[in-house]
Amino acid sequence: MIETAIDAARAAGDILRNALGTALVIETKQNQVANLVTDADTAAERAIIDLIRSRYPDHAILGEEGGASAGRADVKWIIDPLDGTTNFAHGVPLFSVSIAAEKNGEIVAGVVYNPVADEMFAAEKGAGATLNGVPMRVSTESDITRALLVTGFPYNVLENPDYCRERFVAFMMHVHGIRRLGSAALDCAYVAAGRLDGYWEVALQPWDQAAGVLLVREAGGTVTNFEGGPHSVYSLPFLGSNGLIHERMIEILAFAKRLQIAVTGSK
Ligand code: IPD
Ligand code: CA
Ligand code: CA
Repeated sequence: MIETAIDAARAAGDILRNALGTALVIETKQNQVANLVTDADTAAERAIIDLIRSRYPDHAILGEEGGASAGRADVKWIIDPLDGTTNFAHGVPLFSVSIAAEKNGEIVAGVVYNPVADEMFAAEKGAGATLNGVPMRVSTESDITRALLVTGFPYNVLENPDYCRERFVAFMMHVHGIRRLGSAALDCAYVAAGRLDGYWEVALQPWDQAAGVLLVREAGGTVTNFEGGPHSVYSLPFLGSNGLIHERMIEILAFAKRLQIAVTGSK
């Protein structure tokens, strides 16, 4: 399945690379001003699904653009054909293809591909994680004041879901820097590769994080919810790190929430 994921990510990546900077049909989803979809999103998803179906006709598929399609109950592919659509639509060459395979409720294979940099981040459960075939590991930074973190914001950021603004500000005061790359899957891949030390985001969808979770874990990192409890790709909050700064990140996430509740007097 990892080979199929890699082949499918390359096929989608070719489509995206060729479409970058050309005239695109851009629409907004569900009448949200910021949530874009282009014809490249749908073309890339088509290419991925066609390839998977040609090899595994009976597997279930969950694609961001096409939604769920039925298949065997025990195996499901989880696909984001273009993660970083806002960057892509603006001609910023920072986006990725994310493909994961879930077996009996566990992610067993995952790839995140940056087609512009030609970087293929891949992991198989129990077999480690690689970048272009070379083993990769999370960073060894244990002091959060020297950490470079990354985050993202949901499309309804103006409603400030789950204290996302306060949490961002709290981290700003404790770390070396915070990046907002615009592709959740790449954020995870960069943590797995040791380029970034930690990543949190208040609301991710399964296709944003399914491959990324496996990358971080197989590269030696930790993924939990904001309280340090078990993480599911079907629940919203994501906290991933090199493991060494994880507890500190949990404390800062909690501190920001407590402070805001104390200030506003509301939950
Ligand atoms: C988005 C990106 C972004 C993250 C958002 C996602 P999309 O995915 O991953 O970095 O902050 O939460 O929805 O819409 O570009 O596929
Ligand atoms: Ca996405
Ligand atoms: Ca997407």
